[in-house]
Amino acid sequence: MSEGAAPEHPRIEAGARIAGMDPEELVRAHGSPLFVYDLDVVTARVSALRAALPERAELAFAVKSNPNPALLAHLAGLGVGADIASGGELDAVTRAGFDLRSVVFTGPGKTDAELARAARSGLRAITVESLEELDVLIELAPVAAPRQGILLRLAIEGAGIGAEAHPIIGGPGAGKFGLVPDEVDAAVDRLLLAGAIGGPGSPYELLGLHAFGASNVLDATRIVENVRSLAARAEAFATRHGLHLRTVDAGGGLGIPYADDEAPLDLDLLRDGLARETATWADRTGLSETRLLFEPGRFLAGPAGAYLMRVVRTKERSGRTIAVTDGGIHHLLRPALIGRAQRTLIVGAGAGRPADGVTDIVGPLCTGLDVLATEVPMPAPRTGDLLAVVDAGAYGFTESMPLFLSHPIPAEVAVRGGRVVAARPRVAPRS
Ligand SMILES: Cc1ncc(COP(=O)(O)O)c(C=O)c1O
Repeated sequence: MSEGAAPEHPRIEAGARIAGMDPEELVRAHGSPLFVYDLDVVTARVSALRAALPERAELAFAVKSNPNPALLAHLAGLGVGADIASGGELDAVTRAGFDLRSVVFTGPGKTDAELARAARSGLRAITVESLEELDVLIELAPVAAPRQGILLRLAIEGAGIGAEAHPIIGGPGAGKFGLVPDEVDAAVDRLLLAGAIGGPGSPYELLGLHAFGASNVLDATRIVENVRSLAARAEAFATRHGLHLRTVDAGGGLGIPYADDEAPLDLDLLRDGLARETATWADRTGLSETRLLFEPGRFLAGPAGAYLMRVVRTKERSGRTIAVTDGGIHHLLRPALIGRAQRTLIVGAGAGRPADGVTDIVGPLCTGLDVLATEVPMPAPRTGDLLAVVDAGAYGFTESMPLFLSHPIPAEVAVRGGRVVAARPRVAPRS
């Protein structure tokens, strides 16, 4: 492994144990299906990413990728900031102990009430996604925390650089994100005209720009290219308006491999590229003091999670095994949403059998969409086997639809040092 590579971690050790624990024991104690988050993996990934970032860069965890309280508290303890997108996520980061001055609030549908609360809370920044939102913030100026930071989000044309077709930021709804160039300049004029920025006593401080349009990018050069293009736009913006920018926010999008034939993000390449790019900022208009913010979610939390589920029934169809499990897309929608399977293997007592065929792994829901993976070369699962879907720590449970078919809502456990340190118990769907 090269010095800066993403840490390989004990997602599944020798097939039998998970995060240093016996999966059968975990399921006995917490039920099946079950989400397991290995906090040691999160720590290792934060360290590896930090080691690849230039001095002027900072991290804010994208809470939408996984708002599990133990995971959030762990990240807060590591000194990572947070990127939130709703009042509920503001509650979550407050409870988890994040320093609110490290929290940025971005999202196209912030309500007036959410903006009012955010403006009073003393967050690091509120990101403006529309001129209407800006007008609400201008009205809130009298009650806002002193010098509340504002970022202007740039609309990204097309799918973004190296984007996975991710419904969170891509697709037909992409137009709701950010400001087009004329609106960016109009926003500055409106803020100045209202006396909301510009003087030492102004209520707001225009920190800089936010731009994010690509998800799950595995090519480090593309991430560097994104930052380079954002910096160029920020420099032009600063020059046009005579501003010194305190922050440019490059959003999230750092990818993880979901398949065996995908290579992890090359952190050495990322480090070299970002170092080269940010070294130029010292002499560029408006950028000399600028901090570079990343908002990774998937990269930090994805590989830390596994979704355990029990095989309930098996049958043979057209030369393959169909394994019907008690887990499915009601808890892990991503494979159906994106149309891409996640790696799934047998753990616990059934681990270690030789691969002897192909299997479709499906859930119990009464819809043909409830498919986690098809034609997986693996040992034919048997009824009672325990399976683990790996890389389920981001956009897993949080992006799903747990009420469909009224199965119990699975427990989530956080493991550290091979022990469960926090558990959200399994609950009945309507309790
Ligand atoms: C504004 C913003 N920041 C950060 C992220 C996190 O992205 P990722 O988990 O791919 O790093 C998202 C995800 O959609 C987002 O919308």
